[in-house]
Amino acid sequence: MDEHTRRDVADLRVRLLAAQKVCVLTGAGMSAESGIPTFRDAQTGLWAKFDPMQLASEAGFRSDPRLVWDWYEHRREGVRRALPNAGHLALAGYARRRPGRLTLITQNVDDLHQRAGNTDALRLHGDILLDRWLERCTHQPSLLDVSSAVPGRPPKCPHCANLVRPGVVWFGEQLPDGVMEAAEQAAFECDVMLVVGTSGAVWPAAGLAQVAREAGAHVAILNPQESAIDGEAHLILRGTAAGVLPGVFAE
Ligand code: OAD
Repeated sequence: MDEHTRRDVADLRVRLLAAQKVCVLTGAGMSAESGIPTFRDAQTGLWAKFDPMQLASEAGFRSDPRLVWDWYEHRREGVRRALPNAGHLALAGYARRRPGRLTLITQNVDDLHQRAGNTDALRLHGDILLDRWLERCTHQPSLLDVSSAVPGRPPKCPHCANLVRPGVVWFGEQLPDGVMEAAEQAAFECDVMLVVGTSGAVWPAAGLAQVAREAGAHVAILNPQESAIDGEAHLILRGTAAGVLPGVFAE
């Protein structure tokens, strides 16, 4: 870390210590050092190798359920094997030491924030480890529990043609009920917003930095590369989540 970045980290640390309300928005870069690939990094990002419309849309799932199911099973294995990194642990430590100050908002579908200790993170894009029905069961429309599904790739309803799908938000789908509203409220109310490891390419998550900035918060971005929302930041730290967050949240 160069002298300039060291000074910026110290500046942000002081602001975080003084803040009453802090929002942290994380993206795939947060988990990159835990070995979970990002989406848009050139070469290593998932969308450099795979077609998002085939693998992350309802139409893609319907066109080839087995292919999509198997791809999520493979990613689930990677998530289960991964461990929270020093960045996740730094955020969890801050939340523990300063109860009630941090709202953690994540676009990540892995459970590394939760396993680090941030069990109340707002999960904008769902949970890759959860299963849910593709549509309301025609056999029993109130049936939410997928445990009755017949195992398979993907599992199926024993009574109708309904399929089980991963509990993530696909392109074109609504975010889980109430989660974006809670995130916007937190962004509006915070004194400091820190955005970690997101390209800022996907909305509505990408709009949260602007909400915070317009409401008067200090906005900082941590990312080794440029992002689409750098223009919203008062402070930009060029570094990685595991490398920089422990210093940012040191007390
Ligand atoms: P992207 O893959 O678009 O962006 C990842 C960002 O992380 C990039 O800006 C990288 O520069 C940065 N990065 C890489 N390594 C890092 C590190 N070690 N520390 C910090 N930053 C690092 O991922 P998201 O912005 O999260 O949707 O993508 C948003 C959504 O698009 C995802 O939630 C996903 C995807 O389609 C769903 O899963 C529904």
